[in-house]
Amino acid sequence: ATIYLKDYKQPDFSIHSIDLVVELGEEVTTVSSSMTIKRMNHQASTLSLNGENLELISIRRNGLVLNDTSYECTDEYLHIPIPKSEEEFTLAIVTRIKPQENTALEGLYKSSGNFCTQCEAEGFRKITYFLDRPDVMSVFSTTIIGDADLYPVMLSNGNKVEEKQLDDGRSYVKWEDPHPKPAYLFALVAGDLACVEDHFTTASGRDVLLQIFVEKGNEDRCNHAMTSLKKSMKWDEEEFGREYDLDVFMIVAVSDFNMGAMENKGLNVFNSKYVLASPQSATDTDYDGIESVIAHEYFHNWTGNRITCRDWFQLTLKEGLTVFRDQQFSADMNSAAVFRIGDVQRLRAAQFPEDAGPLSHPIQPQSYVEINNFYTATVYEKGAEVIRMIHTILGKEKFRNGMDIYFDRHDGQAVTTEEFVKAMEDGSGIDLTQFRRWYVQAGTPVIKVTEGYNPESQQYSLTLEQENPKLAENFLPYHIPVDMSLLDGNGKAIGFTTDTGAKSTGKVLNLTQKKQTFVFNDINSEPTISLFRGFSAPVKLEQNLDNEQLAFLFSRETDLFNRWDAGQRLSSNILLSQVNRHDVGSLQILPQMYLSSIRNILNDRELDPAFAAIALSLPSEQDLAQKMPVVNVDAIHIVRNNALKEIGLKFESDFLQIYKDLRDLKVEGNQPIASNRKFKNTALRFLTATAKEDYFALAAEQYHAAENMTDAMASLFNLGESEGQIRDEIFADFYQKWEADPLVIDKWFTVQAMSSRPTALEDVTNLLSHPAFTMLNPNRVRSLIAAFVSGNPVHFHEKSGKGYQFLFNAIEQLNGTNPQIAARLVTPLGQWRRYDAVRQKLMTDKLEEILDISDLSNDVYEMANKSLHN
Ligand code: ARG
Ligand code: ZN
Repeated sequence: ATIYLKDYKQPDFSIHSIDLVVELGEEVTTVSSSMTIKRMNHQASTLSLNGENLELISIRRNGLVLNDTSYECTDEYLHIPIPKSEEEFTLAIVTRIKPQENTALEGLYKSSGNFCTQCEAEGFRKITYFLDRPDVMSVFSTTIIGDADLYPVMLSNGNKVEEKQLDDGRSYVKWEDPHPKPAYLFALVAGDLACVEDHFTTASGRDVLLQIFVEKGNEDRCNHAMTSLKKSMKWDEEEFGREYDLDVFMIVAVSDFNMGAMENKGLNVFNSKYVLASPQSATDTDYDGIESVIAHEYFHNWTGNRITCRDWFQLTLKEGLTVFRDQQFSADMNSAAVFRIGDVQRLRAAQFPEDAGPLSHPIQPQSYVEINNFYTATVYEKGAEVIRMIHTILGKEKFRNGMDIYFDRHDGQAVTTEEFVKAMEDGSGIDLTQFRRWYVQAGTPVIKVTEGYNPESQQYSLTLEQENPKLAENFLPYHIPVDMSLLDGNGKAIGFTTDTGAKSTGKVLNLTQKKQTFVFNDINSEPTISLFRGFSAPVKLEQNLDNEQLAFLFSRETDLFNRWDAGQRLSSNILLSQVNRHDVGSLQILPQMYLSSIRNILNDRELDPAFAAIALSLPSEQDLAQKMPVVNVDAIHIVRNNALKEIGLKFESDFLQIYKDLRDLKVEGNQPIASNRKFKNTALRFLTATAKEDYFALAAEQYHAAENMTDAMASLFNLGESEGQIRDEIFADFYQKWEADPLVIDKWFTVQAMSSRPTALEDVTNLLSHPAFTMLNPNRVRSLIAAFVSGNPVHFHEKSGKGYQFLFNAIEQLNGTNPQIAARLVTPLGQWRRYDAVRQKLMTDKLEEILDISDLSNDVYEMANKSLHN
């Protein structure tokens, strides 16, 4: 059934407190819940609690047992008639569950022998009967009883208030969380876990105990997570005035987890991928991921927990805002421009296609079948861009005012995005009426640019026109902040007079009309426009710049985001024109001007090496595919590889020199630094692209000498493209070395899944029967299946349709065990309209077959149905 935002109704009853007693067992787990409930609606005659897959043992209301004629129990609800005279009452319910059989990893489940929970969005109803909706906020206490040997650590939200041993060999622990919260923030963990501790003193001088719980043996891999946590706590105090509000903050790392992590109050549960790291086992990218996810979950304590969502249509209220906050944090901790580019790359890679395809939705969806399908790049990443635009329109100070008002006004409440925007208006005095359209209109706006320069009047005019191909005639113009400058022939910003008469070299234009012209005075010579600096709005730019102009921007733009983007646009133009000529079979070489702009980057030793690395990297096959009306997967792959090779050969000695210089360069604390590694490994990629044996030998040498996983993985990726004994030996060696380390073995699966070797699909199919492969572990599924379908376009889209069949088989199997993970895998098939007729047919056939799977889950149904028919 479809659920609509417009049908939202306040709850008839509220649950003020809930005391849970959870008796953990190997066969069965018993959950006893005692609630105090208050009537909110005087007309309501029935209390309908959510509950799924629960064995109901008993119900008592106000202490009296209800017999089975005084309630009705369905697959999804427990309906209990309540006399209208009853204003307040207690309800005590006992249920039984089997966490050990829960492969969907939602509710209470087991991971590596430990109990853990995932309740967002609607998992709590699989633990006990409850009003499982975010606008019902309750004070929780949780008592956990379990075998003392198997579960020496037993955790829940809040503070531990009691702990004792029972006579029967079980231990008893009671937790109380003083902050009222919705059930989706409930958590329980029990197991034989090691704990790493630290402390943080808040700005007001309170001591907070920080604990990270991990499987034994992983204690030495928590440093980076702990450091990131302390940095996040400090940053939120300094940037937003937000202090932590409990005496203890706990993080638990588990190896079976559907998503990245979860912000349960005081007890965050994490996918171990975002906690565990040592230089030997984790790459620099893993380190960045940990820092940002730790920050993200911590920041949720205020944006998500203290102030939560009224209903799930408001998901972006907490997610968009919290992603924005974690992005700002990471930018502050690292190279801001490089991180901004990474954020935009992810937005363009995942959100743009989503928004152009059948699963397009506004950041605030109007309806859904399964809410788990709406934890999307649109709600998260575009949602963060929407907050960033508010930040840009208001400016840092007024944005902070707005946030202060938001926190003051809504602390302890479950609110809507409307209330957030209102606080921003009140904090700034700026009208955001038109801006609100970003919340309700889907699709990526396209901005068309026309320029004019009049030397006589010394006026430059800029005309911007908005379109939205997804909504066509049905869209209303957005309020778009356009951060811009005018550049002179050296790339320097030109001063101009703004409409208020003030002199400026840069400005945020407010584009609010469908078509709007901005005039700049006192411009002595024809400028080059620098538009959407720092990617100031999530739009596509249609600007007729020729390759010479792009090359100019690529070498001279002062905004590093735009500089990088000009390089990507230049590369795309050149590669796509080769793709278009590919089928006629003419010899293709890269234009001189393009090669000289690459030389510029190579020669510019002032550049941050991490920036140089991404500036030189060619747009991915997926990036190029997005720019074609009908995707030609094979030609894209061939052309891009040829370009890598030609650039590699042309600058062979430069790349080799960079490689050698950076290989041994030690900077920080006599250690090589991540940005140098990145540039070095980019050089290595161009070298192996020449296909010369020497460079594969160099990659092999790097593998054997590697003291860190970044270098080992770079070698593996390069060798993964090759054939022969060296490759096979190193892959075998890597496996043996890391066999006991699931996060590293995931990487081993991924490199093979992404290889373009002719045997890739066969390799991947064989890997399904590898002893280390299991469909029950989401990280493993992502490392092999998701990595293949989204990271290996040539083989996934193989004309035989075998790639699609491979995906279908996985979806069919996962539909029965883990529908959330199965549903996410449907996405690539939803892009069928972008391919040729033969592939379209193959892909839509698979979607039809998916809809025919017996016992099809809601999750998969919604994705396949929309993919086929929207
Ligand atoms: N709130 C979590 C986060 O953003 C994600 C939880 C997603 N859970 C789900 N079932 N879709 O960090
Ligand atoms: Zn989040």
